[in-house]
Amino acid sequence: MPTIHDAVIIPGDGIGPAVSAAVAKVLSAAGAPVRFHEHHAGLAALEDGDDVLPQSTVDAVREHHVALKGPCTTPVGKGFTSVNVQLRKRLDLFAAIRPVRSLPGVPTRYDDVDLVIFRENTEGLYSGVENEIVPGVVTSLKIASRDACTRIARRAFVYAKRRGRKKVTVFHKANIMKLSDGLFLDCVKQVHDDEFNDIPYETQIIDAGCMKIVQDPTQFDLLLMENLYGDVISDLAAGLVGGLGVVPGSNLGDEDAVFEAVHGSAPDIAGKGIANPLALLMSAVMMLNHLSETRKDDRCLKAANAIKKAYNRALEDNQKTGDLGGTLTTDGFADAVIERLNG
Ligand code: NAI
Ligand code: MG
Repeated sequence: MPTIHDAVIIPGDGIGPAVSAAVAKVLSAAGAPVRFHEHHAGLAALEDGDDVLPQSTVDAVREHHVALKGPCTTPVGKGFTSVNVQLRKRLDLFAAIRPVRSLPGVPTRYDDVDLVIFRENTEGLYSGVENEIVPGVVTSLKIASRDACTRIARRAFVYAKRRGRKKVTVFHKANIMKLSDGLFLDCVKQVHDDEFNDIPYETQIIDAGCMKIVQDPTQFDLLLMENLYGDVISDLAAGLVGGLGVVPGSNLGDEDAVFEAVHGSAPDIAGKGIANPLALLMSAVMMLNHLSETRKDDRCLKAANAIKKAYNRALEDNQKTGDLGGTLTTDGFADAVIERLNG
């Protein structure tokens, strides 16, 4: 086992550099055995060249297999293909996993939310296949393949089994998109019936599912869906537990893993020093847990648990950034976590 694990850090745009620096500081204070190599993506990468996703950044993730990524801005309209979509596709990070949990000291309408969102990350309407047929008429293709639908389903059931999740619910719109969402449903059912028929599984048309989730999120457990639905439901679910400042995520393939918060670059608060670094810190905890499992290194698990305990205690002590009703700066929250690391 190496004494230290190499990982890539991609600071990103907007609030990205500030939250990344705060998280790196906490990891270092916790003695996490990780050495970060900084690479750029997004608008930040344009300062060094003309590519929003430089090949050197993709190569670095392939080399080290693990990355912690801040959010990247994708301008609306013509111009860039989303950096995030590109990165997930080029590294084949087909599964986005986003745990959404109630936190101590963060009161919301619900006390006991504990959901996990599994989002297919490589196809659907985010395939980027768009055409202007004639001026004034455009199409965006929604792509679904048996292979991609099957592998995300299998990943979700494996996770459910390992973590003792009670139920898998697929959100879909196969009543309208009979072929694409129909294939997604078929693949999930087949994986369930052939390999995981001991795990309860249900399907839910997504519009009614949205109503149910805001009425009572505790009726769901693991939510599995295609790309666009997963993007939207992730932010919706974040709203159940305190907002985008508290929901982490991972993008996993068979070889590589990129950990990033659900939120974006938050241009409305960028540069003010008030962004909540907790979502990225929780993503870093997921990264440490992943390193602990894949590299069999208990020091990573120890650091992950210490950080988790420390941020929970900080929240209980009402140490919070503005999005959670507090007054701390990004750095102030990181310091509050660091102060609680050894106690
Ligand atoms: P956003 O997630 O950046 O912001 C939505 C709202 O949540 C804003 O009011 C923002 O201030 C707040 N917020 C987000 N993160 C926060 C944090 N850590 N602490 C406190 N408040 C926070 O979504 P928006 O504005 O739609 O997107 C901005 C840019 O981010 C776009 O260019 C978009 O493409 C990009 N984006 C990038 C993502 C990524 O890199 N993975 C994911 C989502 C969006
Ligand atoms: Mg999103």
